[in-house]
This record gives sequence, C-alpha cells and structure tokens, in this order.
Amino acid sequence: MNDDLILSTDTSEALISRPQMNQDIGLGRGAYVSTYGCQMNVNDTERMNTLLEMANFTIVATPQEASLIIINACSIREKPVHKVYSEVGSYRKLKDKNPLLKIGVGGCVGQQEKENLIKTQPMIDFVFGTDNIDTLPQIIAEVYSENKKVVNAKFEHRAPYHIETLVRNPGVSTFVNITKGCDNFCSFCVVPFTRGREKSRPMSHILMDVRNMVKRGAKEVTLLGQNVNSYKSEGEADFADLLEKVSKETDIERIRYTTSHPKDFNEKLMHVMAQNQHKICEYVHLPFQSGSSRILDRMNRGYTREEYISKIQTMKKLIPNLVLSSDIIVGFPGETEEDFLQTISLVEELQFETIYAFMYSPRPLTKAAKFEDQVEESVKNERLNRLFDAHEKMAFALVKKYEGQTLQVLVEKKNEQGKLYGRSTQNKSVHFLGSESLIGQTVPVKITQAFPNNMRGELVQ
Ligand code: SAH
Ligand code: SF4
Ligand code: F3S
Repeated sequence: MNDDLILSTDTSEALISRPQMNQDIGLGRGAYVSTYGCQMNVNDTERMNTLLEMANFTIVATPQEASLIIINACSIREKPVHKVYSEVGSYRKLKDKNPLLKIGVGGCVGQQEKENLIKTQPMIDFVFGTDNIDTLPQIIAEVYSENKKVVNAKFEHRAPYHIETLVRNPGVSTFVNITKGCDNFCSFCVVPFTRGREKSRPMSHILMDVRNMVKRGAKEVTLLGQNVNSYKSEGEADFADLLEKVSKETDIERIRYTTSHPKDFNEKLMHVMAQNQHKICEYVHLPFQSGSSRILDRMNRGYTREEYISKIQTMKKLIPNLVLSSDIIVGFPGETEEDFLQTISLVEELQFETIYAFMYSPRPLTKAAKFEDQVEESVKNERLNRLFDAHEKMAFALVKKYEGQTLQVLVEKKNEQGKLYGRSTQNKSVHFLGSESLIGQTVPVKITQAFPNNMRGELVQ
C-alpha cells in the first residue's frame, strides 16, 4: 500500500519514532480487530489496523475471513472480562477449522488482566497492553514464527509520549490524541490503572499531525484525551494555548475536543473558545457524574455542584449558544434518594440536551469498589430508568427549538437510506437529501424535525 497515505507526519521532525516492521508477516493473511469502548480505543484500533497493513496484512470485515483476530476490549463497566471470554469462545469453530488462526486481546482489558487471560482461556495466543500497541508487529511475528504465547502489557512509564498519528483514511472528521493516561483517580474509575500515568504530546507534534490530516482531506479534528484540560506541552503551554494554536495555525475547518474535566476547565479556555468560534465548535461534553456535592467528594472529582454550575454560567455568558452534554453515574456507593434527586435536578437546571448515564459498576483496584455502602442493583436500575425518563421529557421539548433553524452541517457520508449524514457545530446528527458531491463540505440545512439524538432537515439551496 502507498506509504504516503498511511504515514501522516513529516518524519524530519525530531523525536517521533516509527514502529519496526517485518513486512512479510502479514502476506496472504487477513486481520480482523473487534473494538469496544471509548474513542481512545477506536483510535487505537485505527493505529493497529495501520500497523497491520504496514506489515502487509489485509484488513477484513468479518472474523470468518481472518487468520488473525484481535479483541480491543474496554474495562470501564460490567463484566468486561466475561465479554472477552465469550467472544473468544465464539471463535472456537473457526480455530478448529484453521489451527493457524491466532487470537489476541488488547485494550484496557489486556492491560488489566495480562497473562490471566491466557491462563484462563488457552485459545488466546497473545495479550498486549495500552502502551504496547507499537510492538504489535513484533508480537505477531513471534506468535507466528515461534508458535509461542506472548504477553506484553508493561507500562512505559519513562518513555515520552512521542507518537505520530496513524490513520488509514482520516475521512472528513478525524481524531488526534493529545494526552494519554489519567492521574485523577476518580474513586470509581479503572482508567488510571489501564492507561497509566498522564502524558502529553509536544504541541509541535500535534500541530504537525493536524496539518497532515488537513492535507489528506480532513475538515474536522477532535483532540482526544481522558482529561484534555490538564494538557501540558513542553514549555508550559496549556490546553487553551494548544486549542488557540490549532485554530490559528492550521487550516482545519472545525475543532472539537473530548473529554473535559470540570475541575480543570478554566476561564482562559472559555475565552479561547469564545474568540475562535468560527472554528471551535460551541459544544462541550463536560461530565458532572453526580448532582450531589457529598457524592462528588466521595468520587474524588475535585469540584462541588455549585462550582460546576458556576463554571457553566460563566461559559454560557461568554458563549451564549453553547450546547452541553454530560456523563452521569447513578447508584454510586452511599447514594441516597436525596443525592439522586439532586442529580435529576442538576440535569433539569442546566438543561442538558444529551446525557450519557450509567449504573455504577465496581471496578478492580478502585477505591469505591471497597466502599461498604454499595447500592443494590435493583435500586440502581430503577434510578437509571427514572433519570432517563426525566431527561427524555425535558430533552424532546428542549430540542424543538431547532425546528425551523438553519444549522451549518459538515457532510460526512451517505447513510443506509441514501440520505446525507453530517453533524452541526452543536454536534447534532442531521440527515437530509442531497448529492454525494457535498461530502466534505459544510452546508446550511433547515431542520424540519428535531429529536434529542437525531434531526431531519432540508438543504438550503
Ligand atoms: N475521562 C472521562 C471519563 C472516561 S470514562 C471523564 O473524566 O469524564 C467515561 C464515563 O464512564 C465516565 O464519565 C463515567 O460516567 C463512566 N464510568 C466510569 N467508570 C464507571 C464505573 N465504575 N461505573 C459506571 N460508570 C463509569
Ligand atoms: Fe476516570 Fe476520572 Fe480519569 Fe475520567 S478523569 S478517566 S473518570 S479517573
Ligand atoms: Fe474503556 Fe479503556 Fe476507554 S476502559 S472507556 S477503553 S480508556
């Protein structure tokens, strides 16, 4: 395949190392990566697929066509290890038919479970951690040529985070990692254990990647990290500085970022957003997790309900058309009915158009898993349903305001129904009729029907 298409960066830039490759290993072999989890894992899968193609594997669409299957698994909630074993089990017939089929597990579950996975399920041939993706070609070479089991799940604590973005086809909207890991240790969360210590990429590398993505056709970039607001480049530039540079010094048309942490979301960043609205979208995903300050304290989130509200009020003053979404956990240990009602009231008070809500799930190694006042499953379930009901009632009414409005939609693709699909600056998914030649362009679309997660509209000619 064409090297220029895969390798996005100008390698004259010092310090970016390129993974070592044995180009024979994939010849005649199909590879299939199955992906769970957050955008970080989706982006890691893209990196894996790129490395596999560079080693001459053919990326195939189904496990049936593959000689190599990788499960890039997520560990954030509910029985992740069980899910991996059940997926591996479903490949038994394929492995019986083709003894040369190799199965690997990566992602946050690979990092968390390491060799335990192979001990419990001998069909698994290799396991690799979240810091070891670039060693995938060597791992696979060992697995095939020496026919042995390989585990590589060591954190590279001392290595700087100097990667290049590897994306096969950036498309219209693409992702660039800016940090990895997390040092916040929210008491419910496994990520600090599965992604390791937080590290930031140098700003010059990120700018170079964004410029390269633009050259390859990208119109929108999402800057990715577990807590983008704690980004620190060499020379002390912070996230607001980075965002401003990406806006001013690259030709990318739209900029998004995820995920933000309320404790680190500062006024400097709000000002940069307000002053660069022609490029930085007026949409922020800012997880508050709980509306009760007592629970927030037990979650180790580093802010109170009042502080969160006050940040949102300042933000809305500076960016009046700001659209917000949030993650919420219900049934955290010790959550009373009163605490839960405070979560519902915060959703209503701040008028979130979109929420992502989850039942608390105890995770290995985390502080909250050891709390004694765990909430019963039936109560968590009932609260989750009540939260969704309350939000739905509000959100349907809230998004009606978009009907009749004309939104600027960046067209990403044609959907299965033959309509164009794109997202507005407010991150609304919009479907409308139009010519495929509009893919990659930002066009005005008048909204005819608005639902909380989806909208229909008509192209304004
Ligand atoms: N870094 C992001 C969150 C990444 S995890 C942030 O701080 O916002 C994505 C979401 O999963 C979290 O926001 C939280 O709502 C949810 N989550 C994380 N751990 C969880 C757990 N143990 N049980 C239930 N939900 C959890
Ligand atoms: Fe997990 Fe908290 Fe880090 Fe987000 S900020 S990844 S919730 S520890
Ligand atoms: Fe899951 Fe790991 Fe992302 S646990 S949510 S894949 S950081």
